[in-house]
Amino acid sequence: MKVLVTGGAGFIGSHTVVDLIENGITPIIVDDFRNSEKFVLKQLEKLCGTKIVSYNIDCCNYEQMEAIFSSEKPDGVIHFAADKSVNESVENPLKYYQNNIGSLVTLLRLIEKHPVKSFVFSSSCTVYGNPDSVPVTELSPIKKAFSPYGFSKQVCEQCLVDFHNSNPKNSIILLRYFNPIGAHPSSLIGELPIGVPNNLIPFITQTAAGVREKVVVFGASYNTNDGTCVRDYIHVCDLAKSHVLALNYALKNPNNIDTFNVGTGKGDSVLEVIKSFEKINSLTLNYEIGPKRAGDAPVVYADNSYIKKKLNWSPKYSLEDALLHSWNWQQTL
Ligand code: WQD
Repeated sequence: MKVLVTGGAGFIGSHTVVDLIENGITPIIVDDFRNSEKFVLKQLEKLCGTKIVSYNIDCCNYEQMEAIFSSEKPDGVIHFAADKSVNESVENPLKYYQNNIGSLVTLLRLIEKHPVKSFVFSSSCTVYGNPDSVPVTELSPIKKAFSPYGFSKQVCEQCLVDFHNSNPKNSIILLRYFNPIGAHPSSLIGELPIGVPNNLIPFITQTAAGVREKVVVFGASYNTNDGTCVRDYIHVCDLAKSHVLALNYALKNPNNIDTFNVGTGKGDSVLEVIKSFEKINSLTLNYEIGPKRAGDAPVVYADNSYIKKKLNWSPKYSLEDALLHSWNWQQTL
């Protein structure tokens, strides 16, 4: 089976490429390297022991993408390529609407002409906004998005539903990621945030490495055990596995559309993450409590019973594994 992987040189995309190859699926990477590094391709070939076909193309470019569909004739698509900074999306919403929604619409127009057996879309728990209750299930209400980034994911999900209703030939799976963290155990690939990281784990690892002076905990007066926000941190390799299972599920269930939460089902607070990071890596982290960050939901974690039941997926790595792997990766940079 040949699968087009847009954003395949990115954090989750690159780890999914490894899993695809390990499962005998041929990935075709499409990445314009706006949010990823070209050396990742070499690392992937070293890690997988095989050449990997890749195209340096903006997947919003219909003509260039059509040429790839015509020549490669993919059986499936996994669409990761998107901008994903919450903060940046507030400053530059049109970039997010243009790229995140535009790239998806371009791909849907292409699979209308060149049908594929399975289309897997990278969505996010951010579509739930600040949930009324936790754990969050796939039927939890979609609340008003906190950011243009979150709204772009909500719009993309609606595009997929409407497209499928009009054109059920392609089987579509939406995966709502919770908080992807960690790195490949080999330390050959991992997260490569550009500039100052928005997300907690890369900020922690960069602080431990002396790249940043300290971690500021965004608020400690939430209604949680220790006052800090709770999230569902999922190892990127566990997340990668869900894509291969989703592809195969779509193959076996043609003309279908389905949505799955991909999370551990467990919530950890910011302070718990910091303490775990210090313990598993035998170091002391410089951090302090600061003001709340606008838009942060106090508690978000997944009910993952549906993906367990339908895709037979379950997380294998612990929070400690992810924090160890992310620190090992940071030390190679
Ligand atoms: C986690 C917790 C912060 C940094 C975002 C996107 C989501 C997904 C994952 C793409 C929060 C706290 C953080 C710091 C801190 N991305 N924090 N100090 O906001 O849950 O989710 O990334 O799909 O869509 O919304 O992740 O890592 O930014 O924050 O205290 O320096 O860590 O307040 O409680 P978040 P995060």
